[in-house]
Amino acid sequence: MKHFILCLMAAMLGMLPAKAEKEFVNLTPRPKNVLVYDGRCTLPASFTVGVDAALGDTVMEEAQRFVDLLNVSMKGHNVSLVHNTDDAFLKISQYTGVASNVGNEGYRLVVKADGITLSALTQKGFYYGLLSIRKMLPAHVALGLPGTEDTEYFLPIVSITDNARFAYRGFMLDVSRHFFTVDEIKKMLDIMAIYKMNVFHWHLTDDQGWRAEIKQYPKLTTTGATRSNSWNTDIYLVDDYWWTGEGAYTGKTYGPYFYTQEEMREVVEYAAERHIDVLPEVDMPGHFVAAMASYPEYSCTPNNPPSVWTNGGISSNVLNVADPKAVEFAKNILSELCDIFPYPYIHIGGDECPTDQWKSNSLCQERMKELGLTNYRALQTHFIKEISDHVATYGKKLFCWNESITADGADLDLMKETGATIMCWSPCQSGAAKAAEMGLNAIITEYHSSTGGYYINRRQSNDYGEPTGAGYGDDTVEGCYNYVPVPDNVPTAYAKRYIGVQGTFWTEHVSSDEYLEYLALPRLICVAEAGWSTQSRKNWSDFKTRMTADTELLDLGGYIYGRHWMDDYIHRVYKNPISDGAVVKFTNQSTDRPRCLADNNGTLNGQGDACTEWTLKAAEKEGEYYIVSNVSGKYLNAAGTASGSAVTLGAAKTAWTFDETTMSGYVAICLAANQNVAVNNNVSNATHARLFAHGTSNGASFWKVDLISAPDGIPAVTTANSLTPQGVYDLLGRPVRRNAHGMKIVDGKKVLNAR
Ligand code: ACM
Repeated sequence: MKHFILCLMAAMLGMLPAKAEKEFVNLTPRPKNVLVYDGRCTLPASFTVGVDAALGDTVMEEAQRFVDLLNVSMKGHNVSLVHNTDDAFLKISQYTGVASNVGNEGYRLVVKADGITLSALTQKGFYYGLLSIRKMLPAHVALGLPGTEDTEYFLPIVSITDNARFAYRGFMLDVSRHFFTVDEIKKMLDIMAIYKMNVFHWHLTDDQGWRAEIKQYPKLTTTGATRSNSWNTDIYLVDDYWWTGEGAYTGKTYGPYFYTQEEMREVVEYAAERHIDVLPEVDMPGHFVAAMASYPEYSCTPNNPPSVWTNGGISSNVLNVADPKAVEFAKNILSELCDIFPYPYIHIGGDECPTDQWKSNSLCQERMKELGLTNYRALQTHFIKEISDHVATYGKKLFCWNESITADGADLDLMKETGATIMCWSPCQSGAAKAAEMGLNAIITEYHSSTGGYYINRRQSNDYGEPTGAGYGDDTVEGCYNYVPVPDNVPTAYAKRYIGVQGTFWTEHVSSDEYLEYLALPRLICVAEAGWSTQSRKNWSDFKTRMTADTELLDLGGYIYGRHWMDDYIHRVYKNPISDGAVVKFTNQSTDRPRCLADNNGTLNGQGDACTEWTLKAAEKEGEYYIVSNVSGKYLNAAGTASGSAVTLGAAKTAWTFDETTMSGYVAICLAANQNVAVNNNVSNATHARLFAHGTSNGASFWKVDLISAPDGIPAVTTANSLTPQGVYDLLGRPVRRNAHGMKIVDGKKVLNAR
């Protein structure tokens, strides 16, 4: 029967019988329905795009952009646009089938050897249909880049009926912890657009920096947009930059960095051309230190102003929500933003807001009494409601992080009244279930779970050379892809409240455009597919094939991305990660003492002497590294006196075995390329340099590691506390990252993919 229908359709299309969806059509996100036929459609050197006369200006505008782009990208071709479909090679007309087949954003696209037809119900639908045509052409056409060769362009013979699964397909970027230029944001918008994502959630403010110009409050973008460069968490150097920018040890401040209102409007306009809405977020009343540093009169401690935060985590310094002037401050800020951002929603954060300062503040105490509240969290809900009423005067509704309904003591009735959309991160799924039960819409952006997650700034592997950052290396591309945003057990009545998915990107540990892209890509594309394609259409292996093909597009677009998970990825062997003569110092942070490393046979001397400092010496030959103490041939004890067994200088190790099970505590360093390295049973056939540092109990680490000198231009002191073994590796192995996963330094700072 199926075969018969396919034959019938093929006959109607005037073609050979269809193959069922062929192995490969390079369309991501995967469309709802695709039939692929034999043959190809060669685009004539000169052809016309015709928009049905019944369709209006907006579709003509869409088609005009498409035609202009083809004329730039398809060298040697001449494409023209007309407002009728009479002789057009590509005919664009109103969709006349069952509306729900294509919905608000979908389209029907039929490519035959002698012409193309595209139909949809909305401007967005036409846009996405035209985008699919571009995506099936060579990568430079999808990117809108000029073509360099006079070549033939062809499409596969296909019949596609497509539609988006979720209305909201978002990407959040934190520009507070690390500032990204408008150009980089546009570059991310470009890649979002190609993969049919439609909301850019702009996390404009946080404790560590205020990034949106607010004319009524200029100090927000002087004081609030600047921070000192000291930083106390496990950040590290990337190339010439600390995550703060100019460098924690240069004495320079970070900033002031912010977007002018004009720049924000520019981003909105750029996004709109790609059918992307911009959702601005002002995180409040918590994560508000940058604002409190600028206008301490609105905090709970006006006489003790905070500085723009240089720590990570959660600050107790929050807005005084019981002070009418402070609430007015928040409202005025939002008023200016409501004017800049046309999207009918505005995000006011609401995550991770400690109530400690409210509890000891007399205004808050009075307000609690006045409202008859017993839980200080409810003060936050009252604040949200006030803000909700305020933005409603601009025709807007709120987005809030899930704490607004999941934090103990939140006033759920009041939250229901706001009609806010709940952005669910932690607990994501139960937060979403609760939102749905309350009749509120939910966006799924799982922070981390055993089945994957959408916090795409998190470390995606424990591979050598993986940049440091949040997470444990288990937020893999596959986990991200396979994460199920709406589990099967969500009742149908509630499932309709799950209106979207979002890739969320925090930047505490991300210091450059390159790392943003490397961590975000392709996980953002995994989220894009989850946003567009129905669950049953998703297939990891198929996605891998398509993404592998899209390396061409990503390379051409100048994107950095993780390719380590791809089938065809070839592990590279990188050269010496630590320069000859670098000194590494270990200081025990616990009651236990660091232990020595190995004897000169390469066997770990578990009960050996304490050692505090090592010189890492590169061997002459790639693939061999020496590890020696800084007193020739000796381990050092804690007092710095040489003791223990001698290490024979020049005895390059070719195999190291560390057995954690017999050790109560030790530090182990291994720099070995092309070696077999084993830690406990976690054997890795390392084809690359590795370093391990372990503490005593359960792999918990407690070492303070100072890279106290490094002759290759790295600043003299790098300190990182409480590092995980991987973190220690990252610190010391940092120069490896220059070449890891296809990242290559070219022209100083410019990073390109090495294929
Ligand atoms: C969040 O990650 N604090 C929303």
